[in-house]
Amino acid sequence: MPPQAPWPQVEEYLVKHLHAGDPPASTVYDANRAADLPAIDVAPTEGKMLHLMVRMTGARRILELGTLGGYSAIWMAKALPPDGRLVTVELSMKHAEVALRNINAAGVGAKVEIKVGPALEVLPTLGSEPPFDFVFIDADKANVPHYFEWALKLTHPGAVIVVDNMVRGGAIVDAAVQDEHILGVRKLYEMLAADRRVTATALQTVGSKGYDGFLTAYVN
Ligand code: SAH
Ligand code: DHB
Ligand code: MG
Repeated sequence: MPPQAPWPQVEEYLVKHLHAGDPPASTVYDANRAADLPAIDVAPTEGKMLHLMVRMTGARRILELGTLGGYSAIWMAKALPPDGRLVTVELSMKHAEVALRNINAAGVGAKVEIKVGPALEVLPTLGSEPPFDFVFIDADKANVPHYFEWALKLTHPGAVIVVDNMVRGGAIVDAAVQDEHILGVRKLYEMLAADRRVTATALQTVGSKGYDGFLTAYVN
């Protein structure tokens, strides 16, 4: 990919025109960087796209895997009706504490519950809750096929599952890349190739967060 591609500048242009009046991303990003969280939050345009997807689907119950500092959670929670609920799962207590502060400061604390622990341990405890309408998977990539299976268990037909980091700078098609993250991502694609339970596609995303992609699946 050409390093001179103006992705960040284009993102700035899009944000300037389309995000006027939105809370600036920097409020949460700055808090996260000040707390030394890695800069792997979704980009502003991706956060707002998640917000729009939640509104378009009329989702009332959202599950997120991978909270970090709560940037994507805040965008999605802001799309919920007043009685809506978002459960977000985070491995790191430190990340969860930063996220809780950001989520409360954004005024969506009443709708959001952060569950701290490895997602594979928290997910089995969520089965007693009503099913989720919308799932955003953005935790560790090696486990992404397991997370997708859990998302299917915890949703209903008509629900939507979005998975971040499904392109990884094109590494999905680079046979030389064989780390556990990319193996997890490829395994999900191989799973979905023969899976009639969902209708799915993926869009490549570029911008301030580099070159990656969102997979979107509709539960049939
Ligand atoms: N969705 C966030 C970014 C998430 S970054 C946003 O856009 O703002 C990925 C997060 O997943 C990190 O905070 C990391 O600590 C968390 N994580 C990693 N492994 C995990 C696991 N096994 N269970 C739950 N969370 C995990
Ligand atoms: C990275 C990016 C992400 O969006 C994420 O969820 C995890 C890791 C990364 O660039 O390393
Ligand atoms: Mg991500």
